Formats: sequence, structure tokens, C-alpha cells
Amino acid sequence: MASTEKISAFPYPFVENNVYRYSNNAIPLNPPIAIEVTDSYIEELNLKRGLLKMHPKRCFHSEPHTMDAQWEALDLILNQLAEYYPEKFKLVTNGGHWIFNNLHKGEKQSFTFGDPTTLDREPLDFVGRHVQEDLILMMQRDGDLFLDAGQLCFPANWSLYFDAGMSFKEIHTPIPGFQSASLDERILQFLMRIEAGSPWWRKNWSLMAGNRLDTSLETFAEWGQARKKVTKENVGELVHLRVEVQKLFRLPKSNGILFTIHTHMLPLEQFIKHTPWLEQFSSILQELPDFIADYKGISLYREVVLEYLEKELEKR
Ligand code: HEM
Repeated sequence: MASTEKISAFPYPFVENNVYRYSNNAIPLNPPIAIEVTDSYIEELNLKRGLLKMHPKRCFHSEPHTMDAQWEALDLILNQLAEYYPEKFKLVTNGGHWIFNNLHKGEKQSFTFGDPTTLDREPLDFVGRHVQEDLILMMQRDGDLFLDAGQLCFPANWSLYFDAGMSFKEIHTPIPGFQSASLDERILQFLMRIEAGSPWWRKNWSLMAGNRLDTSLETFAEWGQARKKVTKENVGELVHLRVEVQKLFRLPKSNGILFTIHTHMLPLEQFIKHTPWLEQFSSILQELPDFIADYKGISLYREVVLEYLEKELEKR
């Protein structure tokens, strides 16, 4: 289950500011790559496929009208895998006949682009089984965005089954303060203006007791208890910084938005080795308002983490 990674590859989520608040922190994505293949690729793919097999309803959802957008997402991702990781993936297209070769996994698939009968699964479900990212399709209509398809195996305490079909604002209702100053409306307007060929990205962060990637709302009883088990002896090993790299791509034909989420985790004992990170995160966590700490689920053990960070700072 462990899926932590090297400190050098970790996407540190904070910018200059020592204060963290919810904001539209999306920036242009350069180079415009929707996916990233890391050292944990095989391990995370196996975990994903196991979850999809055991919990298909929890991990995949699609409305019939998303089929064109699903093919566009497959097109974008398979082409990027072959372009950016040519030693691991090959894609040969001959008119509508495509052959995708996942050399890393030792799998080859031929199919006719646009013909669902030539794939064993729906296009989004197929392509999601070849990348570490969770994949969400937001469809745009009536001046709004709706979560009409997704493959989600590594949610940070939310449910695809529950959120299926919801609008952008409905999805974000549980977040305290997200409606104030019309933040949700401003982000929705920003999303609806995203243009094909100009993708965006942002990082979201949280702390988590344990290192499970599959922290679905449905299994909270299995992993949520670890929050009560954080002590000053185990905090460095048990508590992880969990960062989601989220990317947003407009799909030009269907006008949908592909939202990819790549989840990274680093135990605090690794994280604090980098002194500037230790210093900044210590200030941010100290100042973090209770309503954000509560929502992120870190209030139960925040004090233990703060004491640990302070002790480490004293040693520098
Ligand atoms: C368009 C695709 C997006 C989808 C499908 C999505 C989905 C979600 C979901 C399901 C949650 C958890 C809500 C819960 O507690 O049930 C969430 C949290 C959140 N989202 Fe989004 N989101 C999207 C885009 C964005 C964008 C573009 C922003 C900001 C620019 C954003 C900001 C946030 C924030 C701040 C949180 C709270 C996270 C935390 O404190 O850990 N989201 N989002």
C-alpha cells in the first residue's frame, strides 16, 4: 500500500507566502503535459486496477453523452504518453486503426478510434488504467460545469458515486469559506474560459495520518482512525504531506474539461530534511485557521505535528 516517494520528486505546494488561504491558485501549465510517470508507476497501477476490480461503482462513473469527450481524453493521454515517454509507450495510428503499446507494463491494445465495441471498457476507463492520475471529465452546458464522467481510485476523502452529475459549485459545497467573496463563482468563470491548447494546473495539499492513496469517503472507517494514533514518537513516520497535482485541459470537440489528479505523499521525517520547507510549513501550520484545519481533517493531531516541527527547527 505504501506509495511515498523521493524528496527530489516531491511537488512542494507552497509559494512565497507564509499564510495559506483558499484562492484560485491555478497557473498556466508549461510544458502542457496532462500526466507524469514516476518511479511508483507499476505499484500504483496495480493498486488502481485492484480497486477498479473490487469496487467498480465507487471508482468509475460515466453518462452516455460523455463518450466523445472520453475518446478525446484517450487521444490526448495516449499521444502524450508516447511523446513524452517514448521508451515506455508506443502509439501507432493508421487512420482509425490504433495500436497502443505499454512497454513498461508489457501490454498491447489494438482498437478502432471512436468505436467502443473495439475496447473492453469505456475509453476513459481504459486510458485511466495506464496512468497514475485520477481522471475526471467536467462537461460544460447551460453556463455551468458538471461532473459527468470519472475514474477515481485515490480520492482525498470524497466520493465519485456521491458527486456524480453535480455542478462545480455543488461539488465544492463542503469546503468552508469557499462561497465567501464568490470564490466558487470566480473559479467557475475561470474554468469556463479555459481554451484548448492552453492548459492550467494547481497544487492542493493536506496532511494525512497514514500513507494510503485510496482514502475514499466510503472507506473512512478503515483509514480515518489513524488520526487518533499520532504520537510524538511516531509522528515523523506516520504523518504525510499529501499533495495533489491537478491539471485542467479543454477538450476542443466536446468542449469538456479533462481534470487530472496526481497524488503524491511524503512522510514528515523526509519532508523536514529540506530546511526551507520545514521553516515555511511550520509557519503555515501554526497560522492555519481552525476552519481549514478542521476541513482538512488535521485538527486532532495538529499540535503534535507543530511540536515535532518546532523541535526539528531547534536542531538546525
Ligand atoms: C474542475 C474540476 C474540479 C473538480 C472535479 C474538483 C473537485 C473537488 C472535490 C471533489 C473536492 C472535495 C470536496 C469535498 O470535501 O467533498 C474539492 C476540494 C477543493 N477544490 Fe476542487 N475541483 C475542481 C477544480 C478546482 C479548482 C480549479 C480549484 C481552485 C482553483 C479548486 C479548489 C478546491 C479547494 C480549495 C478544495 C479544498 C481542498 C482542501 O482544503 O484540501 N478545485 N475539489
